[in-house]
Amino acid sequence: MRLAVVGTGYVGLVAGACFAEHGHDVVCVDNNEAKVRLLRRGRIPLYEPGLEELVRRNRAEKRLTFTTNLPAAVRQSAVIFIAVGTPQGEDGSADLDQVLGVARDVARTMSGYKVIVNKSTVPVGTAGRVREIVRRETTSPFSVVSNPEFLKQGAAVDDFMKPDRVVIGAEDPRARELMTTLYAPFTRTGAPVLVMDCASAELCKYAANAMLAARISFMNEVARVSELVGADVDQVRRALGADRRIGPAFLFPGVGYGGSCFPKDVKALLTSSAAKGYDFRILRAVEEVNEAQKRWLVLKMQDHFGSLKGRTIAVWGLAFKPKTDDMREAPAMAIIEGLLGAGARVQAYDPEAMAAARRVFGDRITYARRGYEALSGADALALVTEWHEFREPDFAKMRRLMRSPVVFDGRNVYNRDQMKALGFEYFSVGR
Ligand SMILES: NC(=O)c1ccc[n+]([C@@H]2O[C@H](COP(=O)([O-])OP(=O)(O)OC[C@H]3O[C@@H](n4cnc5c(N)ncnc54)[C@H](O)[C@@H]3O)[C@@H](O)[C@H]2O)c1
Repeated sequence: MRLAVVGTGYVGLVAGACFAEHGHDVVCVDNNEAKVRLLRRGRIPLYEPGLEELVRRNRAEKRLTFTTNLPAAVRQSAVIFIAVGTPQGEDGSADLDQVLGVARDVARTMSGYKVIVNKSTVPVGTAGRVREIVRRETTSPFSVVSNPEFLKQGAAVDDFMKPDRVVIGAEDPRARELMTTLYAPFTRTGAPVLVMDCASAELCKYAANAMLAARISFMNEVARVSELVGADVDQVRRALGADRRIGPAFLFPGVGYGGSCFPKDVKALLTSSAAKGYDFRILRAVEEVNEAQKRWLVLKMQDHFGSLKGRTIAVWGLAFKPKTDDMREAPAMAIIEGLLGAGARVQAYDPEAMAAARRVFGDRITYARRGYEALSGADALALVTEWHEFREPDFAKMRRLMRSPVVFDGRNVYNRDQMKALGFEYFSVGR
């Protein structure tokens, strides 16, 4: 099949490369010329495990091309995926300018039947708005499909290739059949392809992200209570996760959730529910707990040191989670701002997010080239993102490098007894 994917970010580039890997002819479109230039040279503008190789292979096979020319891409494609950003608008709702703008531009150059698939995360009703815009611009036949994406950054290629489920919102039988055929190779192992109306498909994505965010905030509250009553949240988490009705995923307390999706999607579901006269109370609490959790590690440091003024704090991990270079809404930002606001100096290191961090903090913090370099002369280490390389460090070397052996483990990565035995003052979350 000939496919166009508009938007070559974390979702569009992964989707485009994975469809090409299954033999489709895919043209990826972006209006960012620098990105397209980079992609045409075989480089990728973001860090995602396995993606560069996939892009390189499919480019070489000429199944995957890149362009800024949307009309040409539309003319040569039967299916057009919209995978552009839906950032948070000023009032908290999803800003649909990019999505609706692309829909209009697609419609203006359409001829013959096209399936326009919305892959961006959008509020209920967007498929209808896209349909109206397209109808206004063209007399060509078309179908609009809602196909929300559930991949996780850091494991995006794997998730796209082996999804837990595929959701297809489509009212038109022809589009339903085409989409089901397109996804058949990805669901051979039995993952369900759930075909439904567009409104339900659009709501699925927000409900899924809101549920995951709620689990994180819930566990962060269990961690708070654990500390107050002298329980160990790790033990509680294991017991909870063993319950098949609950399951073990997404039960890790930490420094709060971040990233390009959870914060904006929770906010957008709250706002779109409110617009229909419904107050989604649980989500207000989910957000409130998360904001407080992002500040908690700094409060612990302040408690320990009395004042952070003049202290040097090493920060390990800046990306909002491991295996990505993405710092959008990363808890590390709130933590570092808190530290700087309290008068501390920050020496930071992340395996992939250093360039993103420089764009955020400029020269307000020091950037280390390696994890150990960040520890040099530090009064404490704050472990913020649990990259593999931070899991089993050389503790003796750490002690030698640090001014004082104090560790604030925001991800409960280290063993408490071992840290004490090694002579560290050790603080974690809910233990
Ligand atoms: N990042 C994730 O993990 C993830 C997962 C599931 C769903 N989503 C959703 O998918 C959508 C895209 O997310 P992302 O993280 O890939 O975003 P992104 O910011 O990484 O990528 C968006 C891309 O769209 C391009 N773009 C914007 N306007 C354009 C236009 N008019 N024409 C062509 N290209 C244009 C941008 O240049 C950019 O490259 C969002 O709605 C997001 O909520 C994201």
